[in-house]
Amino acid sequence: ASPLRPSATLSDSYSETIELADIEWDNLGFGLQPTDYMYIMKCTHGGTFSKGELQRFGNIELNPSAGVLNYGQGLFEGLKAYRKQNGNILLFRPEENALRMRTGAERMCMPAPSVEQFVEAVKDTVLANKRWVPPAGKGSLYIRPLLMGSGPVLGLAPAPEYTFLIYVSPVGNYFKEGLAPINLIVENELHRATPGGTGGVKTIGNYAAVLKAQSAAKAKGYSDVLYLDCVHKRYLEEVSSCNIFVVKGNVISTPSIKGTILPGITRKSIIDVARSQGFQVEERLVSVDELLDADEVFCTGTAVVVSPVGSITYLGKRVAYGDGIGVVAQQLYTVLTRLQMGLAEDEMNWTVEL
Ligand code: COI
Repeated sequence: ASPLRPSATLSDSYSETIELADIEWDNLGFGLQPTDYMYIMKCTHGGTFSKGELQRFGNIELNPSAGVLNYGQGLFEGLKAYRKQNGNILLFRPEENALRMRTGAERMCMPAPSVEQFVEAVKDTVLANKRWVPPAGKGSLYIRPLLMGSGPVLGLAPAPEYTFLIYVSPVGNYFKEGLAPINLIVENELHRATPGGTGGVKTIGNYAAVLKAQSAAKAKGYSDVLYLDCVHKRYLEEVSSCNIFVVKGNVISTPSIKGTILPGITRKSIIDVARSQGFQVEERLVSVDELLDADEVFCTGTAVVVSPVGSITYLGKRVAYGDGIGVVAQQLYTVLTRLQMGLAEDEMNWTVEL
């Protein structure tokens, strides 16, 4: 139930009824702000996760030969909680993250929490840290579930013990550009994923693998890297931390999920939102040449939400899409975020109110 008096103004209401952490809430970026609690649940190989618990947020102890440290047996997830204007907290599609973690765990030979365990753990962690959920309009609480082989191994094998952990951090914009367009460079040598590999699951190694190209791109002033498929070096895959969409007229195209592309929950949601707004959405092979005559390009992800692309550089040639956010990206961003923040009616039944 709302703790607010109907006539109270937003700022009055918060200061009177909701205890917030004492930090600067304006201009949150995407960096770790330690909070009060983390959630931990363990299980043995071949076993199932039983009851987890909240602990004070802090360092964890790992055996030096833990599977995750030595052989990268680990997965992560990312989702967000928003504070509504009435002070209540909304999660966005947490069961989708639970399902994606289960798919990834199967690929990485790990046991995973059930969907119910995952969602309950997320709820418990957010509620235990509720003073860190930013005020409405100031950002969100980023929720980071991890699943890792925490037991010791020396020879290459699945770890004998697994840890499921959730920590949270209040965040604002992922890119320093905010909602201003980002500038991407197409990577022509290094690849993020290969057919039959792990590009389609959220394993930690996929993210370490992009750091070299990302660092080089940033050193040249680009915001991030756009990857091509490693077989033809011709079809768009994704950006280091998000999926990509190309707009031409009323048609919005995005690379189809075929094992090398992360099945983003924001990607999937934007496809549904775009269709509900009358756009034709195509999931297919999208050639790098299509960037040349696109009207707009934008990225989607939990962290980046919807991020407009201002320019893309490919083999030394730069294609520009304009200085501001494109009309299509703006429309989809607005519809999605109003839903996530509880400002529009959730006809899709995507949000979970705490
Ligand atoms: C997310 O968008 O939640 C991600 O997991 C991407 C990460 C690199 C921040």
